[in-house]
Amino acid sequence: LNLHISKNVTVPMSPLLYGIMFEDINFGGDGGLYGELLQNRAFQGVLPGTQAALNSYQAVNGAFLTVVDNTPGVSASLPNSLELSIPSTIVGGPGSLTVSLQSLSGAVYATKTISGISSSWKKFSLQLAPTASAPDINNAFTITADGSSAKGSTINFGLLSLFPPTFNGRENGMRVDLAELLAALKPSFWRFPGGNNIEGLSFDTRWKWNETIGPYVPSLKNGILKSILLTDSSIENRPGRVANWGYPNTDGLGLLEYLDWIEDLKATESFYRQEPILAIWSGIATANYSDLTTWPIVPEADLQPYIDDAINEIEFITEDAKTNKNAALRAQLGREEPYALKYIEVGNEDQFQPASYAAYRWQAFVSTLSAKFPNLTFIDTSLPTTALDPPYTSIDFHEYNSPDWFKFTGAFMFDNYPRNGTQFLVGEYAVTSTDDQNALGTFASGRFQFPTLEGSVAEAAFMTGMERNTDVVFAAAYAPTLEHLGANQWTPDLISFDAGTSFGSTSYYVQQLFSSNRGTHILATTPTQDNSTNPLYWVASHNNDTNLVFLKVANTGNDDLVVYLTFDFSVGPTATLSTLSQTDGSGIFNVSNTPDNPRNIIPVHSSTVVLHPTGFNATFSAQSVTVLTFSTK
Ligand code: AHR
Repeated sequence: LNLHISKNVTVPMSPLLYGIMFEDINFGGDGGLYGELLQNRAFQGVLPGTQAALNSYQAVNGAFLTVVDNTPGVSASLPNSLELSIPSTIVGGPGSLTVSLQSLSGAVYATKTISGISSSWKKFSLQLAPTASAPDINNAFTITADGSSAKGSTINFGLLSLFPPTFNGRENGMRVDLAELLAALKPSFWRFPGGNNIEGLSFDTRWKWNETIGPYVPSLKNGILKSILLTDSSIENRPGRVANWGYPNTDGLGLLEYLDWIEDLKATESFYRQEPILAIWSGIATANYSDLTTWPIVPEADLQPYIDDAINEIEFITEDAKTNKNAALRAQLGREEPYALKYIEVGNEDQFQPASYAAYRWQAFVSTLSAKFPNLTFIDTSLPTTALDPPYTSIDFHEYNSPDWFKFTGAFMFDNYPRNGTQFLVGEYAVTSTDDQNALGTFASGRFQFPTLEGSVAEAAFMTGMERNTDVVFAAAYAPTLEHLGANQWTPDLISFDAGTSFGSTSYYVQQLFSSNRGTHILATTPTQDNSTNPLYWVASHNNDTNLVFLKVANTGNDDLVVYLTFDFSVGPTATLSTLSQTDGSGIFNVSNTPDNPRNIIPVHSSTVVLHPTGFNATFSAQSVTVLTFSTK
């Protein structure tokens, strides 16, 4: 192939094109990005008195543990507590307790004593500074009572919390290694809090912003915000919820933590924008995926309180604390200055309930909210074919499919999309399986446990199509983002982790290559890309600020390909080449990064390519993604 890169600009690059979709799935929030180290920390969302309620806790030396709700909880939002009974006929007093970090074989890494236990709830805070690093992840947080003084006594724990140092030193913040992996993607947006996880399995278990920000806000029976009487952002006042992915969410990772995190991400990367794309609940609960007719839908006549709730949330985020009561609440919680917010997504995948969305839900939310917040962009979540009033200008499109779909269909799907002012957020996509008839099926039918190189290269082919058409695709994200190894509900995922380790998949490195090498404008190339150029996919861009040209190439074929590159501008003298490929010569491409081999396939960066000004041959190896970067003179 002869590939000519022209200096002619086709379209400006959307500054939001590459970002992150985040919801608490696969323990990616609680147990993942959210720094809390203790599971089941407040014993909520479990049935008191059952073994399941003791999840992650164990008594030793004859002590007895149970989760109870028959004494007042530590707050109205956390009615359950963990009761420790120290058996004896002799009544003693608890005296002091020793808190430690230990290995399961008893090596003590840090220890402190607390005293002053009383008969009413009391908060104890202390710092444990380990004297050594544990060699593995088999460790425990222990609380020990002195048996001679404590015998016969009962001690209740309402909330136990253990935080390591966090990203940017934020209190109640993010786990450092995962935050760093995410920041290294240089994302331009953060779509949250779902995904399905915003929706709830019932109206009452939907993601409620007001219950994620601090002291408990009493709700009406159906979960509508009644009044706002908050005073601080303490985690003991967040009730949490049993959410869509089958495990309790503490909501310790709540609205303010998300917004602060987005600002922290922005601070780590000066060039790219960083925008929240906030989903608001749109009046459906995802009760049962196998029967969409069972999903509860809020009737039109009952929708207004939920619209009011969205208004409260947006005011809380964006308004002036001196003049707005919801914003004043934000200030009370410690944040005077409004947060930036431009994008509101109305629901998630409302293509599954299009009739009510088109009939009244979209209309009711968007007409009210856009009148009140004229600077916000509202994103439709039904299919492009669903006619809406008011008409949508932005739409969220999701695709989970096979490598073939991404390279034969997805890579060209935006080429002929009408330029009528409508833009896409491709809010979720991934190559999930080799089976394009059932891409979310079982491992036996081709579903991936981890992204494969072949699948990730097909995603890159799709991404060249989005970048080439960035006038209609303004933002795009792989999904899901995080998975706790062995505790997931969905594979494949971008980043895998457990208590001690984390690693990026092949798709992670594709996202990173595309996101961290961005132009400000897309350049015309000859030939133009179409189906006939398969298996090679490419897109070229120029960055006005740095004067760098980026050529991104996905070779989705199983043979190396030589391309003769020419330019109608002066280049060089050298280029850097970053390539993600199979380097072991095996010719096997359905390979992954795995817990046993987490850096099996990682990009190789070289800066030794000499550019010949009149043109030169570049080799793109089989099943590879390459970014060639050079300056124009
Ligand atoms: O990414 C996993 C799920 O896939 C999301 O929660 C949902 O939006 C989609 O169906």
